[in-house]
Amino acid sequence: MFYKGIVTKGYTLAWSTIQLEEDKQHQKSLIEGNKIPRHIAVIMDGNGRWAKNRSLPRVVGHKNGLDSVRDIVESCDQIGVKYLTLYAFSIENWKRPNLEVTFLMKLLRQYLENEIEELHQNNVRLNTIGKISSLPKNVRSVLNSCMEKTKDNTGLVLTLALSYSGRWDIVRSVQMIVSDVRRGKVSPEDINEEFFSSYLQTNTLPNPDLLIRTSGEMRLSNFLLWELAYSELYVTESLWPDFRRNDLYKAIESFSKRERRFGMTSEQITDNTDQNKDTKGYIQRVLDAFNSR
Ligand code: FPP
Repeated sequence: MFYKGIVTKGYTLAWSTIQLEEDKQHQKSLIEGNKIPRHIAVIMDGNGRWAKNRSLPRVVGHKNGLDSVRDIVESCDQIGVKYLTLYAFSIENWKRPNLEVTFLMKLLRQYLENEIEELHQNNVRLNTIGKISSLPKNVRSVLNSCMEKTKDNTGLVLTLALSYSGRWDIVRSVQMIVSDVRRGKVSPEDINEEFFSSYLQTNTLPNPDLLIRTSGEMRLSNFLLWELAYSELYVTESLWPDFRRNDLYKAIESFSKRERRFGMTSEQITDNTDQNKDTKGYIQRVLDAFNSR
């Protein structure tokens, strides 16, 4: 359905995929619906099964998964998603066979080298979370130069979770807080949820509004454990290499019909009467706090 157009170096400002009219219309109706999630996080699962279903090596699944990454990044940017966070490699993934790990690292490096110019031209800012020090040196150096190149961009913030685990980030934050308490920089009374969040690697991102997981598994797999507390979850049977923009639009359509209550009642959310003013004010403050990070 989509194919790559020709990019003239230094000239093209738009994404190089030639966009069909039907897709433009679909995007327009989503945007007009005014319910585009500000932050979408994705657990890209099912690459191995996609390959296995075709009697191909697992790595072919990862390679095809890259086409989905491209399509989802591009379409998120086009519809005005502000933050997209992709779980590309977990700390637990280091336990996979050497060959697969090496392939994934190579794929990541190639993705960055091949795509950075286009990402940059489209005002995308690249960001990472995870134990970046454990990545191979050549991957780290490409990552650093891509982040440096795009650091002033003001469009979509694309965060790659690499060698990441939610528990790891929580423990890391606790260690840093304890160390700051010991040095007298922080007193235990200062520690509340907001303060704790400021130590997490995600401290510049708002909490995800929507978590998408492909391949039908109902798990969080150690992804953004703190940050997903009030996110809407969307699980699809599609395997990641099959997940493309139309599947993304379905997830957003599902999200747009949800009522986010943040622990309150449906009546509190919908009641517009004067008696409910205080509660409404409270809800607004909760929403503002949630959205302001
Ligand atoms: C999970 O599928 C997927 C991964 C561990 C890697 C995801 C990587 C990519 C999509 C490509 C590279 C991405 C970027 C951003 C450059 P799985 O292997 O666990 O699948 P399975 O559960 O079917 O075995």
